[in-house]
Amino acid sequence: MKILIINGPNLNRLGKREPEIYGTDTLEQINREISTYCSEEKPDFFQSNHEGELINQLHTAVEKYQGVIINAGALTHYSYALRDAIASISIPVIEVHLSNIHGREDFRSRSVIAPVCHGSISGFGKFSYILAVKALLEGFLVKSDRI
Ligand code: DQA
Repeated sequence: MKILIINGPNLNRLGKREPEIYGTDTLEQINREISTYCSEEKPDFFQSNHEGELINQLHTAVEKYQGVIINAGALTHYSYALRDAIASISIPVIEVHLSNIHGREDFRSRSVIAPVCHGSISGFGKFSYILAVKALLEGFLVKSDRI
C-alpha cells in the first residue's frame, strides 16, 4: 500500500514552534520515525504552507496512492476548499493532529474536513501519524454515510 502523508501550514516549524504544545521533534525527525515504523511501504511526504499546493497534491494522490494522512494545520478549521478537495477523491483520507484540538481554543475544536475524512486522530503527538498509518495498513476503515 502506498501512502502519502501531507502536512500543511507551519508544520515545517515543528521543533521550534510552541514546543510545549507540539513537542521538540522536527517534521523531518517525525517523518523518519514514520518511515521506520512502516519501512516496507515507504510512505511519501509532502509539506506546504500554501492551500492550493495541498489541494493539488490531494487531486493527484489518487493516481499513485491508496491512502492519505493529512495534518492540515490551521486550514483544518476553515478551509472549505480543502474539504472539497478531500471529498473529491476516492481514496481514504485520515485527519491527524499532534495536539488535542478539542482541548484548546474554541476555534480549534471545529474541523471542517473531519466529516469528509475516514477518521480523525488528535492529541497523541507524533504517534497520531503512526496510529493513522496503522489504521490504513490494517484496513481499519469503517465507512460512514457521508464517505
Ligand atoms: C495542529 C492543530 C491546529 O489547530 C494548528 O493550527 C496546527 C497544528 C496540530 O497538529 O495539533 O497548525 O494541526
